[in-house]
Amino acid sequence: MNELTIAGVKATELAREYGTPLYVYDQEKIEEKLLEFKENFTSPRFKTKILYASKAFQTIEMIDLVHSFGFCLDVVSGGEFFTALQSQMPVENIYFHGNNKSFAELEFAIENGLQHVIADNLMEVEFLSELAKTQKRNLQVMLRLNVGIDAHTHEYIVTAHIDSKFGMSYESVDCQKAIQLIQESEFLELEGFHAHIGSQIFDLTAWFAEIEKLVHVLKDFDESLTLNLGGGFGVTYTEADKPIPIAENMKAFIEKTEEILEKENVMIRELIIEPGRSVVAEAGITLYTIGYQKKTPNKQYYFVDGGMTDNIRPALYQAEYSCDVVNKLDVEKTETVTIAGKMCESGDIIIQQTKLPKVTTGDILAVYSTGAYGFSMSSHYNRATRPAVIFVKKGESRIVVKRESYEDLLRGEVVYESK
Ligand SMILES: Cc1ncc(COP(=O)(O)O)c(C=O)c1O
Repeated sequence: MNELTIAGVKATELAREYGTPLYVYDQEKIEEKLLEFKENFTSPRFKTKILYASKAFQTIEMIDLVHSFGFCLDVVSGGEFFTALQSQMPVENIYFHGNNKSFAELEFAIENGLQHVIADNLMEVEFLSELAKTQKRNLQVMLRLNVGIDAHTHEYIVTAHIDSKFGMSYESVDCQKAIQLIQESEFLELEGFHAHIGSQIFDLTAWFAEIEKLVHVLKDFDESLTLNLGGGFGVTYTEADKPIPIAENMKAFIEKTEEILEKENVMIRELIIEPGRSVVAEAGITLYTIGYQKKTPNKQYYFVDGGMTDNIRPALYQAEYSCDVVNKLDVEKTETVTIAGKMCESGDIIIQQTKLPKVTTGDILAVYSTGAYGFSMSSHYNRATRPAVIFVKKGESRIVVKRESYEDLLRGEVVYESK
């Protein structure tokens, strides 16, 4: 029978060995993406750097993998920074993002050698300038700009997002003050400007508008600065998704930047991008065991042994996925079914409507492209234990994160004997 294999191992074998739900990553698929980014994001005119946006999927193993391909790292919290410190990633390659980094987070990061901060607002810059002075540490500061472009899939809206919680408008008083403060500070250096215009972007025009806006900003500065264009490169979740191939996307970025720089007569020190989802999404598959099945007047449900706790995206923003019954790939898909999780929420649906074969309890379901924002957004709702994460390469599988036990759920709980 035709069975799904992942990196040379049968999915049913992985499910048997590690249990379900299970996050499975095909390591070579991640490596292919890393290579495609790396080989195509280069220019003879300026330096380039790729930061892996680790919010998409962060473990020490993953950070080591991206580091081995020459990537740097984007972190957005003390926890992500701390995890990165446990990896091979040199601290000078870590960039700290976030709209409300706490004093404690920044203090900890700077004490531990942080060199690059992407500052989001004026108050943060004020705090950074004090902190850098007290600790006598030099910091490269990039300012996150709100360029007023909101891009998703095929659409983008200019003048959107003016009230976004992220970034500052370049023209705003706050932004101008922040720049002045950095320029006057003995310890801060203005590294450049950053913007991130959305996710799952399939259309280059929004990015071109972003590049144009950012380059325009640089005309106000004598020194050559860094531009950071953020992430948002699209991936395939269902066959309706047609992302721009990475190589093509990268070449277009480089050519457009070179063209605009030449037109505006501006030099840059470095061009940065921050891909997250596009590095890991398609390499990840979640395996579930199908439990009960149920028919209602208008629906047929297949229930799985996980749900919104391991993949919140469908419940959170109606994200769509595709799937297969791994041991029935060649069985006709006669059933129209809803794949629902086991959590106590009606919205705990993984896939609303999909075609699958008839199943029996115990069959294994593979949901594709779950490698980004699945594990990283997972929760303990209903006291679900987090699934294991495994990497598979050339027929060999290895555990990257252990499945949680019930005991893990109680870690941190304090029980008082006398009440
Ligand atoms: C500042 C920034 N950079 C990069 C990313 C990564 O985006 P993606 O995973 O869509 O590539 C995000 C995602 O939210 C982000 O906010």
